[in-house]
Amino acid sequence: MNYNLNDISATQQKTSTLRALQKLLQLITEERKNLVLALGAILANSGLNLLGPFIIGYVIDKYVVHKNYHGVLVWAGILLAMYMVAFVASYLQTRLMGGVGQRMLFKLRNTIFNKLQDLPVAFFNQNKAGDLISRVNNDTDKINQFFSQSLMQFIGAIATMTGAGIFLLAINFRLGVATLLPGVLIFIFTKFSSSWIKKKNALSMQTTGGLSAEIQESLHNFKVIIAFNRRDYFRNRFDEANKQNYTSAIAAGIANNVFIPVYGFFAGVAQLIVLTFGIYLIAAGNFSIGLLVSYLAYATNFYNPLRQLAALWTNFQVAMAGWDRISYILNMQTNLPVMPAVNVATANGAIMEFRNVSFGYNDGKEILHNINFTLQPGKTYALVGPTGGGKTTTASLIARLYDPVKGQVLLDNKDIRSYQPAERTNKIGFILQEPFLFTGTVKENILYSNEQYKKISNQQLEEIIKAAGLQNLLHIFEKGLDTELSSGGESISLGQKQLIAFMRAVLRNPALLILDEATANIDTITEQILQDILNKLPVTTTRVIIAHRLNTIQNADEIFFVNAGEVIRAGSFDHAVNMLLNGERVS
Ligand SMILES: Nc1ncnc2c1ncn2[C@@H]1O[C@H](COP(=O)(O)OP(=O)(O)OP(=O)(O)O)[C@@H](O)[C@H]1O
Ligand SMILES: [Mg+2]
Repeated sequence: MNYNLNDISATQQKTSTLRALQKLLQLITEERKNLVLALGAILANSGLNLLGPFIIGYVIDKYVVHKNYHGVLVWAGILLAMYMVAFVASYLQTRLMGGVGQRMLFKLRNTIFNKLQDLPVAFFNQNKAGDLISRVNNDTDKINQFFSQSLMQFIGAIATMTGAGIFLLAINFRLGVATLLPGVLIFIFTKFSSSWIKKKNALSMQTTGGLSAEIQESLHNFKVIIAFNRRDYFRNRFDEANKQNYTSAIAAGIANNVFIPVYGFFAGVAQLIVLTFGIYLIAAGNFSIGLLVSYLAYATNFYNPLRQLAALWTNFQVAMAGWDRISYILNMQTNLPVMPAVNVATANGAIMEFRNVSFGYNDGKEILHNINFTLQPGKTYALVGPTGGGKTTTASLIARLYDPVKGQVLLDNKDIRSYQPAERTNKIGFILQEPFLFTGTVKENILYSNEQYKKISNQQLEEIIKAAGLQNLLHIFEKGLDTELSSGGESISLGQKQLIAFMRAVLRNPALLILDEATANIDTITEQILQDILNKLPVTTTRVIIAHRLNTIQNADEIFFVNAGEVIRAGSFDHAVNMLLNGERVS
């Protein structure tokens, strides 16, 4: 399955602008009241501004030309009042939409973050964390900016333009057509340049994502960088990413501003047309000075918002480019789909069966070819084999971190794909090769995803730990259950991390427990304690142990040898050791 967000084929569901806008508006359906109020305010503002020139033209012809100053003053007062109301309406609109934009941003970020939590492991293998962070933080803000700053102005500008256009045509149709002609040219220019602008902005956001991916990667690996004194390596890579971001941002900036001079030019041409044509009409006795003044004002009222529209249209394209990047995530297939349950008898009452399973990462090279094996309840299995042989991959398929490309994995007489995630994770405990701990206390980490013991006290938990024979493990932590782990468990040793991961998995009492090199970093005495605990698990618990240390697998009921895409029964311990020695020499 292709989950790469920067790969066109994975994200081909291109949405039309209108559909995208519709989807965005769905996010703010609860804001209907605010949107209607803001719309009312912006339309009132446009309407009042449109009445202005008409009144001025009227006042010139009726009062100014006849030197009736009283009338001029009265109308000036009326105009001032109108402009003040327009000002208040505009302010109200800005306030309302600012709130709408922020709430939308809040919701959008939550939606994407929740979606990210639902995506399968393959998605995270194929996308860089930094780029995802940039999508959640940066791209969503572009949409907020459009909604809070541009949407209503956009509508207001269109209303003003339409009104001005109608006035222009109504006052003098021929002059109106001539004045609006440059506007048509602008419209055509806009239509053809929009996708180019959007593309430039999409590229700019992509490089911003790349930049944040570089930062993320270097921060994540800082120990290696310092240990090898390779600060220059990341410095160069960052420099390169920064350069790319700079170039694409400049290109986007040019694209975003290309409208301004073009619109300015056409607006100037329109003014010229009004003046020359208008004076010709006055000379012919078909037009008054007052009308010409109104006319010039309406031409300005038509072309000024058009110029504003240029910037707003650009904001819209930027928001749409951001929305595309976000909707790629939102449209990704959530989690691994749950299939309808069908009973399929597993061979010989096995708890787990691999039936003709083939698997490869990212649609690439096959790592496992046509694998068949069964795991019986209550038995202990060991997976051995050379580095990179496919042990972790096999374990990941047992726990359904991935789905097989071909074949079936059966868990308890059902396809593993038909289990709800909660049910599946209750049955299967997986201690990963690279244990991951969260910032928090040892207790919180032990009880992670443990519904049964979610709300118990320290004392109760200690009792449970004691009953499970784990009490000796707790003494390793200075403050016991309350020991604080900082930044993903950086503050404790790898072996200590593995112990917590061990407790986390064992206390959930799974029917099938997988330990992937779970004791590789633990001293032999502690390992013996873990061994005892494993032996004390309920008799029905199936254990799958992956280990390089031979003593760890000595007590296994059966040993599988995993190498070069195959999982083979290795028979006795001695035979397995032989295979391992030969296999490792071969690989
Ligand atoms: N996330 C991944 N994406 C692509 N290929 C992967 C991924 N993880 C593992 N592989 C490939 O799959 C093969 C098997 O890897 P796997 O991790 O299963 O080996 P392993 O037997 O667990 O090795 P080790 O003993 O080192 O833990 C390797 O060739 C590896 O390159
Ligand atoms: Mg492994």
